[in-house]
Amino acid sequence: MSKKPYVKPFIKKQVSGRMNKFGCSYHMGYRDEIDGASIKEIVSRYGSPVFIFSERAIRDRYREVYREFSSRYPRVRFSWSYKTNYLDAICSVFHQEGELAEVVSDFEYQKARRLGMPGSEIIYNGPFKPAESLRTAFGEGAMVNLDSFDEIYKAESVAREMGRRANVGLRLNMDTGIHPQWTRFGLNLDTTVALDAVKRIHQSQWLNLTGLHSHIGTFILDPKAYSVQLRKMIDFMKVLEKDFDASIDYLDMGGGFPSRNKLKGAYLPPEVSVPPISEYAEAISATLLRHLAPGEYPMVIFETGRALIDEAGYLVATIEGSKRLPDGSRSYIIDAGVNLLYTSNWYNHRVELDRPVEGAYENSTIFGPLCMNIDVVVENVSLPPLSRGHRLVISPVGAYNVTQWMQFIRYRPAVVMVMEDGTVEQIRRAEQLEDIVSLEFVPDRLRNPKLGDGLPSGGAGGSTLGRVNE
Ligand SMILES: Cc1ncc(COP(=O)(O)O)c(C=O)c1O
Repeated sequence: MSKKPYVKPFIKKQVSGRMNKFGCSYHMGYRDEIDGASIKEIVSRYGSPVFIFSERAIRDRYREVYREFSSRYPRVRFSWSYKTNYLDAICSVFHQEGELAEVVSDFEYQKARRLGMPGSEIIYNGPFKPAESLRTAFGEGAMVNLDSFDEIYKAESVAREMGRRANVGLRLNMDTGIHPQWTRFGLNLDTTVALDAVKRIHQSQWLNLTGLHSHIGTFILDPKAYSVQLRKMIDFMKVLEKDFDASIDYLDMGGGFPSRNKLKGAYLPPEVSVPPISEYAEAISATLLRHLAPGEYPMVIFETGRALIDEAGYLVATIEGSKRLPDGSRSYIIDAGVNLLYTSNWYNHRVELDRPVEGAYENSTIFGPLCMNIDVVVENVSLPPLSRGHRLVISPVGAYNVTQWMQFIRYRPAVVMVMEDGTVEQIRRAEQLEDIVSLEFVPDRLRNPKLGDGLPSGGAGGSTLGRVNE
């Protein structure tokens, strides 16, 4: 038997309180560190609010998810969904782990190329792909999934102009039992539309169909929906191979696995309502193995976004004020609002304190700093009495926030990553005035004459009051 390490004795105060409907105490623990890095030190160095990502959590989660699928089916690739979080450092971790890049715009495509991803490791999706970007993608051998008849025509004319045949995939939509159906993307498989699109591609001397794609939605809580999706895609692939002599290299299943976040209005907590990833892997691989013979296994691609990154991200914010509202309820104002936490529209995020706080818990609302009535960050959270300077650690916030955040009223804050060795690296600095006004021009006739010829500048982080047309 191995000897246990010595742990210094400590006294822990027992705090009892009311139970919630799941038999759990309302009393919350506290979090003063992330992977060993002190939250207090991170805030004193990078300011508040601050987004904190854990490199270890990203890698551990990716490896767990990859293992669940690759141990059941031999030909699996994951492709990092850039829109979920396209900070360079985050994408780089996923690419180091072996993920392709899944992009939905020329901007995202350029970002992936800039990070060293070759075109052949980029999947280019989305309902609008400018002709110029299609030319680049075809030239660099990217996997391009076409979304509509118009895009088929556009891709054909780009390939004709280039004088070479282009490999393309086709995005499909279908009923998998998940509603609302995302029918606005791709071509419908339940009618003849998808088949008509295949006929059109087949007639073209400039296009070659090599892949099928579909993304059935997001935060899909029923793994069986993926079995339905896959079964329909496999049946369609077999028709294409038999009747059109097509050779389909990949079935791209899109994304959609849920993270352990709490949807607004959900009765059960995520620990209970969100199925483990193994259930998705089991449903998907069982369908593949049942309907395909070993020699016919295509590459199966997943563009998983939120399930891989959400829980690796935290937002630390500071209480700046508290108020009792006329109905008697408690509210707090923090320095981070819905400008930073877009996902507070549909999640009730978990809130932790940065230190133990004594006192009776009360149902509270957390408002952001924006002078806008919509700025409600978390509703109905039970909190002990807090005062200015207390910090809240809000999570999971790793998915869709640092891409959908807005520079609205306030600057966007720094983003840091706690590295696997416990050091903290800044991966995006806080915005300052110059970042924003450097895109603006003031026509001469609108210029304030008091500004003179030069522009006032206030040094680092200082105030630049305008900018003149050069
Ligand atoms: C085409 C496509 N792939 C992947 C994703 C990522 O989805 P999720 O974050 O739900 O895994 C999305 C998100 O909408 C998408 O549109």
